[in-house]
Amino acid sequence: MSHLIAPSILAADFANLQRDCELVNESAADWFHIDVMDGVFVPNISFGMPVIKAIKKHAMKTMDVHLMIVDPDRYINTFKKVGADILTVHYEACTHLHRTLQAIKSEGMQAGVALNPHTPVNLLKDTIQDIDLVCIMSVNPGFGGQSFIENTYNKVIELKALIKSKDARTKIQIDGGVNAENAPLLVKAGADILVAGSFIFRSENPIGTIARLKQS
Ligand code: DX5
Ligand code: ZN
Repeated sequence: MSHLIAPSILAADFANLQRDCELVNESAADWFHIDVMDGVFVPNISFGMPVIKAIKKHAMKTMDVHLMIVDPDRYINTFKKVGADILTVHYEACTHLHRTLQAIKSEGMQAGVALNPHTPVNLLKDTIQDIDLVCIMSVNPGFGGQSFIENTYNKVIELKALIKSKDARTKIQIDGGVNAENAPLLVKAGADILVAGSFIFRSENPIGTIARLKQS
């Protein structure tokens, strides 16, 4: 399988959300990446259910929802209802991660776990077989447009080895500061899904930029 591209809607023009959703539909992108921030887990607030519902009306591809919120268990069922296909929670926000993963799957969604830059990959050794996707944060979560943290490559290689050693099928996603320079290196290291926000939506030709990342 070639790698997947998930444009981050956080970097879209919210006054032209339908237009930007259609742009992603028409492009070579595979998923919509949707960042939910609560102002508590991260120092920023993005958007919530009404906006996700609006995106769902126009998005013709998989909805990959990344929760940067405390106590995500409270809203698992609600995110399913508003259209999430994949629901990713933060390792650092879950006291009972295994229970949370089960709850996400019981709603019929794929379960993802995101790791902050300071969180070691090996903390997932006892849950990796229950995780559909690990999102390695390559910036500190909370804002788009930050620069890529180089240690991410080591984490991808380490995670790939962990997945292999446990005979798991977990996919590796990279989120934050992804661009045309680091994309091929990330894919080479073992990344399966690349999230990109600013690099796509701030470019002159977002459809062309998506195609470029897809060909990385
Ligand atoms: C960061 C978010 C990312 C962000 C990526 O907290 O989780 O998904 O939108 O944006 P760029 O690609 O601009 O770093
Ligand atoms: Zn994200």
